[in-house]
Amino acid sequence: MSFEAKIQELLNKRVEAKKGGGEKKIDAQHAKGKLTARERIELLLDESSFEEFDMFVTHRCNNFNLDKQEILSDGVVTGHGTIDGRVVYVYSQDFTVFGGSLSEAYANKICKVMDQAMKVGAPIIGINDSGGARIQEGVNSLAGYAEIFQRNIMASGVIPQISAIFGPCAGGAVYSPALTDFIIMSKDQSNMFVTGPKVVKTVTGESVTEEQLGGAMVHASKSGIAHFIAEDEQEGIQLIRKLVSYIPQNNLEDPSLNMCSDPINRLEDSLNYIIPDNPNKPYDVKDVIHAIVDINEFLEIQRYYAPNIVTGFARFNGMPVGIVANQPNYLAGVLDINASRKAARFVRFCDAFNIPILTLVDVPGFLPGTAQEYGGIIIHGAKLLYAYGEATVPKVTVILRKAYGGAYCVMSSKHLRGDINYAWPGAEIAVMGAKGAIEVLHNKKLSEISDPAEKEAFISQHESEYREKFANPYNAAKYGYIDDVIEPRNTRFRVIRAFQALATKKDTNLPKKHSNLPL
Ligand code: HXC
Repeated sequence: MSFEAKIQELLNKRVEAKKGGGEKKIDAQHAKGKLTARERIELLLDESSFEEFDMFVTHRCNNFNLDKQEILSDGVVTGHGTIDGRVVYVYSQDFTVFGGSLSEAYANKICKVMDQAMKVGAPIIGINDSGGARIQEGVNSLAGYAEIFQRNIMASGVIPQISAIFGPCAGGAVYSPALTDFIIMSKDQSNMFVTGPKVVKTVTGESVTEEQLGGAMVHASKSGIAHFIAEDEQEGIQLIRKLVSYIPQNNLEDPSLNMCSDPINRLEDSLNYIIPDNPNKPYDVKDVIHAIVDINEFLEIQRYYAPNIVTGFARFNGMPVGIVANQPNYLAGVLDINASRKAARFVRFCDAFNIPILTLVDVPGFLPGTAQEYGGIIIHGAKLLYAYGEATVPKVTVILRKAYGGAYCVMSSKHLRGDINYAWPGAEIAVMGAKGAIEVLHNKKLSEISDPAEKEAFISQHESEYREKFANPYNAAKYGYIDDVIEPRNTRFRVIRAFQALATKKDTNLPKKHSNLPL
């Protein structure tokens, strides 16, 4: 064969590999409103930046006549490219080839890009669209999954790991995305479950559709497994690009700074009026967030899960910051099991990847009741406490209004190594709300008053005394637990100044094998 013919052979093989499972399968994929594995990669990466690995890999299985069906690339497209000029590694499962099912060779391809991503310190992005373990390969497929899981674990906290779910993701296959940092699911097209509807029906008798069992909205709102829900794959891919812009390449680097066109000393007068006079009235903490961050841009994470706490990324003077904020607009911003878990995971992600944390506090306490206690609010609340106490990144806290009881301690207080702690002038910092406190402090006296009106009058008289003493930020400021009481409209400037001062912060934890956080 002439050299020219050899080049032609290569080009022909490339064309063949790019066809995946063939025209018919590609058409079927498109008919479902889904993109192919390569189309997804094209959209995700900067133009012409993709360098593919292992295009010529095929499976090595002879069972069930599989040796008669060898398809180049074997159902997964892998390699590296750039997002906004930064290197990322990718793998994209190809549903047109054996339903995207995972073979030993396919798993090796994924492991190779994961290993290299860890070696060079670059994010790994996995696009999932697969029927799971390739049935014909038996235990070799299971082994392949476990090899991937092991790498997910090794990469955790070292390089950012992002999973997109753009099709089925079932059985043990769900555990790779679950081990990663962020999961994005496309609406109506994706699902995740450990056991599908048929097995559910057999085992529990429940009739449930795939969408009801593990659709995007179920995981965005009920289980909290999905961090983002996208209208379609295009939106999901843009979300991944946006997300990557806030996070660094690896745990040894800082997130990248952007040019900031928003004046750092922009006063936001509306914030001086945002807190209602009545402490029981809600407001939307997202209005506060949008008002103080660069160009009002906030990427919210887990929007539909535990909305009583808000988490997400924004920038201050171009610097990425993770924001955690109690949301008075939902359940009065109370801390419950789901909110604690949601915020704890976010705080730990930020800390692992050197992203400073801003905490906006307006929390009446932990949610009481048997449902919460039986569900383990003690252990789940401890997760958030642990996450804040363990975090060594710069931590700035602003108490907007209420900071009661244990929730005061938890929400990045001075005592959990909060670096700079501010309060707005209406802040109420105390062990508990006024009414509850009076009922405890004067329970003997109150039990002696039989007339309800007299009782009410007694409570309200002592309530104002209590409020005067504790329902303000100055008592905490007196002890230095609050570094300053700031005017709300000045919050953006004060927060930026605080993070600037903390930019060179170095803090460490004692050496250990690993922590034993309350799981
Ligand atoms: C081999 C598979 C496959 C699999 C699908 N295919 N799943 N081949 N192993 N796991 C093949 C089909 O035979 C078909 O081949 C092609 O892919 C497309 O599949 P369809 O069924 O035609 O597509 P669709 O109707 O869209 O249904 C998709 C599906 C369904 C919902 C994913 O295929 C399905 O239920 N597959 C089995 C899912 C499953 O139970 N997997 C094992 C999960 S347990 P042809 O040649 O006809 O086009 C698991 C354990 C992991 O994964 C453990 C990790 C520790």
